[in-house]
Amino acid sequence: MLKNDLFLRAARGEHTERPPVWLMRQAGRILPQYRSLRASLSGFKELVETPELACEVTIQPVDELDVDAAIIFSDILVIPDAMGLPYEMIPGKGPFFPRTITSAEDVHQLLEGEEAAASINYVFDAIELTKKELNNRVPLIGFAGAPFTIFCYMFEGQGSKTFSKAKKVIYQNPGLAHILLDKITSSTIAYLKNQIKAGADLIQVFDSWAGVLTPHSFATYSLPYLKRIVDEIKDVPVTLFAKGTWHSLNAIADTGCNVIGLDWTQSPKDVRKLLGEKQVFQGNLDPCALYADADTIRKMTNTMLHEFGPHYIANLGHGVYPDTPLDNVKVFVETVKRFNLVENT
Ligand code: CP3
Repeated sequence: MLKNDLFLRAARGEHTERPPVWLMRQAGRILPQYRSLRASLSGFKELVETPELACEVTIQPVDELDVDAAIIFSDILVIPDAMGLPYEMIPGKGPFFPRTITSAEDVHQLLEGEEAAASINYVFDAIELTKKELNNRVPLIGFAGAPFTIFCYMFEGQGSKTFSKAKKVIYQNPGLAHILLDKITSSTIAYLKNQIKAGADLIQVFDSWAGVLTPHSFATYSLPYLKRIVDEIKDVPVTLFAKGTWHSLNAIADTGCNVIGLDWTQSPKDVRKLLGEKQVFQGNLDPCALYADADTIRKMTNTMLHEFGPHYIANLGHGVYPDTPLDNVKVFVETVKRFNLVENT
């Protein structure tokens, strides 16, 4: 059915002629067509909550970069919003929550499960519309934030280097932390199942701030919830991207996820040694490497492709930075597309 199913075949562990390629945060400010559409709107939320607009910006990078997958344009923060903590997106600063969790009572008042997920209709509509508009060119990725990363925003109310307000709760009130993580997880599972019903071909879970946890806290406050999500998503492959968790790769593989997303702090050779040739990895070029000249980008990309070998999806180690020159992004994508797995590994 799909005209280009490289990405899904690789995610399922099947053989591909070359590695598929896409970029985390490919839909967004690296593209002039995104910036001009965004400038004409009242704000980020209008874009996320209007299916026709979300569909348009989801397809922009497929047209412009010719990547092997689209990712639905949305944000991980739609989950706290639907549970009862609305977010704002402050231009030039990022997310901001006027209200945060300050008591057990706040936690008890949050919606959970289907009831929370039901109000995120705009994402399900955007997925349905985008599947139609893509007309089977490439698969469509659905996504959500990991429970721990959402938990961070619910206490902190904004970005942070340390997320110490959120971490304070796991040391002072672990019982409450688990009650909240459980509610976020049930909402996320319902949300992801609805994305799949609407047409998402693969699910990626972003645990962007997992790296602030100790290995033990990651095993206690993040992994069990990631595992529950993986257990519940049966119909499509699942990618877990838990940034900064090089210490727990074996445990992440043991969740049974199909693909492990890697940040740039792990070397392809080391992760292959640890988890073998069959494990499907995604990543992990340093996003800053795309500031280099074209020849250097080609060299670094080819080395990475060669070292990962088969069972691999090319990407960066985190989202592409908004000031990355578009031509450099294109050099990266084209280098992957020229790579021949049979000749080179
Ligand atoms: O192309 C894609 O990846 C799809 C769109 C997407 C966005 N956010 C759009 C967005 C995805 C997958 C996300 C996920 C997301 N959002 C994560 C996890 C991935 C990661 O980077 O670790 C996180 C932590 C967030 C929370 C968030 N949203 C932050 C911290 C910010 C501000 C920083 C920034 O990039 O500006 C956002 C805003 C945001 N989300 C923008 C976009 C395109 C920029 C807002 C704008 O256009 O004004």
